[in-house]
Amino acid sequence: MSRVVVIAGATSGIGRATARAFAEREDRLVLAARATQTLAEVREECADVEVLTVPTDVTEPGALDALAGAAIDRFGRTAVWVHTAAVMAYGRFDELPERVFDQVVRTDLLAAAGSARVALRHFRATGAGTLILTGSVLAHITAPYMSAYVASKWGLQGLVRTLQQELRDSPQIRLCLINPGSVDTPVYQQAANYLGRFGRPPPPVTSPQRVARAIVDCVDRPRREVSVGRLNVVLRTGFTVLPGVYDVLVGPLMRLAGLSGRPVAAHDGTVFAPNPAGEAVRGGHLPDLRQLARSVPGPAGAALRRWLG
Ligand SMILES: NC(=O)c1ccc[n+]([C@@H]2O[C@H](COP(=O)([O-])OP(=O)(O)OC[C@H]3O[C@@H](n4cnc5c(N)ncnc54)[C@H](OP(=O)(O)O)[C@@H]3O)[C@@H](O)[C@H]2O)c1
Repeated sequence: MSRVVVIAGATSGIGRATARAFAEREDRLVLAARATQTLAEVREECADVEVLTVPTDVTEPGALDALAGAAIDRFGRTAVWVHTAAVMAYGRFDELPERVFDQVVRTDLLAAAGSARVALRHFRATGAGTLILTGSVLAHITAPYMSAYVASKWGLQGLVRTLQQELRDSPQIRLCLINPGSVDTPVYQQAANYLGRFGRPPPPVTSPQRVARAIVDCVDRPRREVSVGRLNVVLRTGFTVLPGVYDVLVGPLMRLAGLSGRPVAAHDGTVFAPNPAGEAVRGGHLPDLRQLARSVPGPAGAALRRWLG
């Protein structure tokens, strides 16, 4: 049955892959992000289903209420609310401008809380619904030079557990947290940078389509928390069981695997304004197997493309 799905953060990476995945299931979509022209592109990509695009800056007061209002005006009610909107900033904590730190927390933590507030109020009024928030493996471990992002994700983890406890009296309202490891999206290039070197996803890197499948699957089979990433459990165990060893290793490993050698001048990335030219499903850190699968003819190629998502 066709559902109405709101996605905040639908123009890039995991949110854009999720929009396509729900469209393939013939769900109706309400897509939000700041970049109006990219929203129009994503609407074209999902042209087989009914799509409402709502240009939204999730950090603006009242913006998420307006988004919910637009969805209800158009479709009557919403069954699923997904929040993937986020920004990142690289830099030592004391060298990162305070305004950048604060805006990352505003986007990644406070706006996710804002999404939860409007979605849960709507679900309580209608009696049911699924809210999906995106955390990170960095909600369970820490890494240097990403203080605002890590602080936001740890905050979000605590918020989600609290809300899941508050929702025990409403079994028809589901709250799922998706915690990916490294994903091949543009977020690393789009990040603010006060470190002098571009960031990149440390291996192993998974595809945004795989995370999107986990999000869609959560609507059918709700779970409290879903981890997507082969090393997540290992990293969490090392962080918890051997904190001293973890702290010795994490800096060198971050500089080796999490930062490229490419120099970059200090800039705010997309923290305060979108960069439509940098928006895509993938970030170019993995070979695009879907692209390669297009060259495989016949039913085998079609099956491969379906499997890749
Ligand atoms: N990529 C990874 O390796 C990874 C790993 C773990 C967790 N995650 C999490 O997965 C989620 C999606 O990340 P991603 O990698 O897909 O990032 P992405 O490709 O950079 O996409 C971020 C999305 O958020 C939107 N956004 C940013 N600021 C916004 C604002 N103020 N208002 C409205 N929309 C805003 C962007 O659109 P506009 O700029 O047009 O507004 C874009 O659609 C995030 O929660 C991220 O923390 C990612």
